[in-house]
Amino acid sequence: MAVNPPISPPSSADPRAAAARADAAADALGRGYDVERVRADFPALAQTVGNRPLVYLDSAASALKPQAVIDAVTNIYARDCANVHRGVHTLSQRATKSYEGVRAKVKGLLGAASEKEIVFVRGATEAINLVADSWGGANLGPGDEVVVTGLEHHANIVPWQRICQRTGATLRAVPITDDGDVRLEDLDQAVGKHTRMVAMTHVSNALGTILPVRDMVAHVRANTKDALVLVDGAQAVPHIAVDVQDLGCDFYCFSAHKLYGPTGAGALWARYELLEAMPPYQSGGDMIRSVSFEETLYAPPPQKFEAGTPNIAGVVGMGAAIDYVQRLGWDAMWDHEQELLAYATERLTALPGLRLYGTTANKVGVLSFTMDAAHPHDIGTIVDNHGVAIRTGRHCAQPIMLHYGIPATARASLSIYNHRADIDALVESLQAVQEMFA
Ligand code: ALA
Repeated sequence: MAVNPPISPPSSADPRAAAARADAAADALGRGYDVERVRADFPALAQTVGNRPLVYLDSAASALKPQAVIDAVTNIYARDCANVHRGVHTLSQRATKSYEGVRAKVKGLLGAASEKEIVFVRGATEAINLVADSWGGANLGPGDEVVVTGLEHHANIVPWQRICQRTGATLRAVPITDDGDVRLEDLDQAVGKHTRMVAMTHVSNALGTILPVRDMVAHVRANTKDALVLVDGAQAVPHIAVDVQDLGCDFYCFSAHKLYGPTGAGALWARYELLEAMPPYQSGGDMIRSVSFEETLYAPPPQKFEAGTPNIAGVVGMGAAIDYVQRLGWDAMWDHEQELLAYATERLTALPGLRLYGTTANKVGVLSFTMDAAHPHDIGTIVDNHGVAIRTGRHCAQPIMLHYGIPATARASLSIYNHRADIDALVESLQAVQEMFA
């Protein structure tokens, strides 16, 4: 009888080869930030669009993935392809070890006190829905207030709006300034003795503004002892080193796909006693201690919030993405991005008829703009013909567009793999827009 040969993973999925590649990248980068070396880690950059080299300036929507992340995901499907927490067999044990190992990586990324405070979710959107539904459903009622800022993504507005409608609580919004910031005095106006939750973004996806979350949390605490603070870190985690204990917030969440990881994975951090007190969000397998028809006892956090088979490959890929950025180093990434942002701001504002939105000094590499010459959708389509990928539209942040009285913007977002040539290509393509509509 023929015996099947043992299955060995394709070489690209070999975790040791992936680790060796990552080490080599780290060694190269130890000698200074080498953007060309970083670019070589991202296979998607090696393609052409419209017969031109791809210029990817849409990382705020979703970042490209380094080979190390692709290898980690491939390895789960090619080798450790089994369910987690459910098998004594080798594949299941290996998958469980890889999956559970990512909690320590997220703990390190966020400066959390314990791995038990890390709940795996589909992304920041699911994390906020989880808190709104579970914490909000159990704690909000008529007379209570939830405060958000005018800079929020719809994912940090709509779940609160819905839970307020369900519980009789009221949603309030802190206005924004014309340069795209939130003033502490306006926050003070909105937060008072009825406030139970303040939900704020760390970085605006539409404008790039970095909110002074640490100061904002301190102001919330000074105004009321009864409010919790949730921070949407989806756009912050790819750019700045986060320490939830230093920020002083109660909940923090992010999505892996903006941090060079897979889509459909992310994490919610919360203080353990909050997670312990909160009821489950979804229910089913793996979140229970025991089940009978009379009664179900739930598992402790974080398992209580992870019903069903999770996105195993996505979470493991998120772990590889965290390793990747930690190796590059936050200071080096920040300096590179800020240098590029200054160059891009200078070049874009020199274009006649271009107006930039979000002009605070404290911002990440996001350039949101309109042009007299054309509608943002036309801009996006024309620059795509030049191989330049940007996002156009409301950026899931319609209240910001309402503030400026505009229907949409074009948005170029910068990342660790962008270089000056990308900005030059963007400017050239925008000049083509101007010529076409002249
Ligand atoms: N929230 C993502 C963005 O800003 C999709 O584009």
